Amino acid sequence: MPSARPVLLIHLFGLDNGMDLMGWTMVFKISQSSEIPAFLAMQVMDQANQMQAAGGDLVHLEVGQPSSPPPAAVCSALEASLGHIASHGYSVAMGNPALRQRIAEHYRDWYQISADWQKIAITPGSSLGFVIAFLSAFDKGDRIAIASPGYPAYFNSMRALGITPQLLPARAKQNWKPNLEALVADGDIPDGLLLASPANPTGVVMRDAELEAVCRWCDQHGVRLIMDEIYHGLSFNERAQSALAYTDKAIIVNSFSKYFCMTGWRLGWVVLPDDLVQTAERLAQNLYISAPTINQMGAIAAFDCYDELDAHIPRYQENRDLLYRGLPKIFLGDHAPSEGAFYLYADVSALTNNSVEFAGRLLAETGVAITPGVDFDSCHGNTHVRLSYAGSTEEMKKAVQRINAWFAKT
Ligand SMILES: Cc1ncc(COP(=O)(O)O)c(C=O)c1O
Repeated sequence: MPSARPVLLIHLFGLDNGMDLMGWTMVFKISQSSEIPAFLAMQVMDQANQMQAAGGDLVHLEVGQPSSPPPAAVCSALEASLGHIASHGYSVAMGNPALRQRIAEHYRDWYQISADWQKIAITPGSSLGFVIAFLSAFDKGDRIAIASPGYPAYFNSMRALGITPQLLPARAKQNWKPNLEALVADGDIPDGLLLASPANPTGVVMRDAELEAVCRWCDQHGVRLIMDEIYHGLSFNERAQSALAYTDKAIIVNSFSKYFCMTGWRLGWVVLPDDLVQTAERLAQNLYISAPTINQMGAIAAFDCYDELDAHIPRYQENRDLLYRGLPKIFLGDHAPSEGAFYLYADVSALTNNSVEFAGRLLAETGVAITPGVDFDSCHGNTHVRLSYAGSTEEMKKAVQRINAWFAKT
């Protein structure tokens, strides 16, 4: 619950007239809507970076960030754009038309879907894409159902916008899949549903038939689906289909951060349904004007680099296998196999019921940074931790060796 804050109003004329304020404590208002929890993964990363800067030997399994650089052709395109004067101003709010057309071609090439480039908006990271999705389709007080565990910024940014996250508890035993029929049975149908596949923090991937069923369920019940596809391209079995293949009512969110290895470029995109295009454009104009223009010019080349990017996937798979094989069984606990993204969500209930303290101790004593589950799950997060295997294979080996040595000692 946000705490109530007393606010002392000062009459400015009174001040001008020399009102004596000695002894008064001035308390300025801070919005209650911004009283959201911190994103712990980012805090752990900050702490680990500080330890590293002070000479520590750190292994970063805390943050979902590919260690590979952006594709070479993307960097060359960025350099070329520096000499091009048109790339130094704003783009139109929906984003560079050439990039949006290239994204539409990506839907044709990857998914055999025809997407209208004019319904694609380029956003500063998918993070702002979610804000556009939330603000364009929902009002304060609306409810959006989300699987828990789930990506913390979903819950937290919704709360900041006055939208209520309706948590759908998911468990490892059910392969972390939320039960939508329970919502119908309870007569508790939300205004929206947000799902991710491959998912963060669990790495589970929805089968195409499951995705199709979810899209039909949403259309049938008038529930606006927001589908987070930012880990597309990062699954170890067949390539996941886009929800765009099954419905034209959903908002599809994607990003250059993960498969394309461009986290710091802050570029994402949203494929909008017809009825939200103009609203989203107005929001983009007013919220951020445009995504970084120079980066948009560079990003066009990303879609010519599938081979270079696909070459990272066997490494992620090898990293995951190294962790599964090498970590103590008690550390992995009761888990569902990670089939994509680059996360493993471990049940450490046999070791702790305070994942923040556990992750802090592991960091301090071994230099291995992981993320406490409370970031993702307010109910069972204290008995879970997330490990990102997006880094190098050498890092995974180091992590396994250090964690085993730590267990041997404690
Ligand atoms: C599931 C999920 N969605 C969205 C994001 C936001 O990514 P970005 O803003 O870099 O596109 C992340 C980042 O880790 C994520 O894990």
